[in-house]
Amino acid sequence: MDPFFKQPSLVDWLTGAFTHHPLLRKSTTTADLAEIFADGAAWQNMDPKQVIYTVEVLDTSAAEGALFTGVTHLNPGKVGDEFFMTRGHYHARREQGEVYFGLRGKGLLLLQNEEGGATLETVSPGSVHIIPGFTAHRLINTGADILSALAVWPAIAGHDYAALGQGFSLRVKEIDHQVKVIRYD
Ligand code: PA5
Ligand code: NI
Repeated sequence: MDPFFKQPSLVDWLTGAFTHHPLLRKSTTTADLAEIFADGAAWQNMDPKQVIYTVEVLDTSAAEGALFTGVTHLNPGKVGDEFFMTRGHYHARREQGEVYFGLRGKGLLLLQNEEGGATLETVSPGSVHIIPGFTAHRLINTGADILSALAVWPAIAGHDYAALGQGFSLRVKEIDHQVKVIRYD
């Protein structure tokens, strides 16, 4: 091949699968998500090894100014009547934002600011979500298929899981076959 050309990474827009680039991959199981779902008894009864979501991130520079690119694949399912979701986080560098793009499946992006104000955006193939700084974010799969979303964020942003605790004020459940949003104050 011509020495000027470099093989780029490829992402399959229908599935979110990456090819042609070294990847970092992390799966999060039921056991990893203690205290995250409202129904502790239902959580206890699940297979602790069941994978709830997998994140694949291109293994690229972590230098200041660099961007990370990753895809989250969130399985369909519920713990009790609450839909599967990611742990959710603020960025360690609170002012740093992120962009999510819906690729596959359907779900919700829960955003919450430091004053506790929460909003939900519908995630679907092609949806674009601007996550501002100082905003915690969590994906929720309300559909029957895998929810896959591409994310791009500053390498210096980091993750702060501790600051939230159980602190999202909205939970999304299936009640009478309908998606219901419940506010906890
Ligand atoms: O950078 C992001 O916001 C995503 O890649 C998330 O890390 C991913 O969705 C997994 O969620 P969490 O980090 O809250 O477990
Ligand atoms: Ni993030």
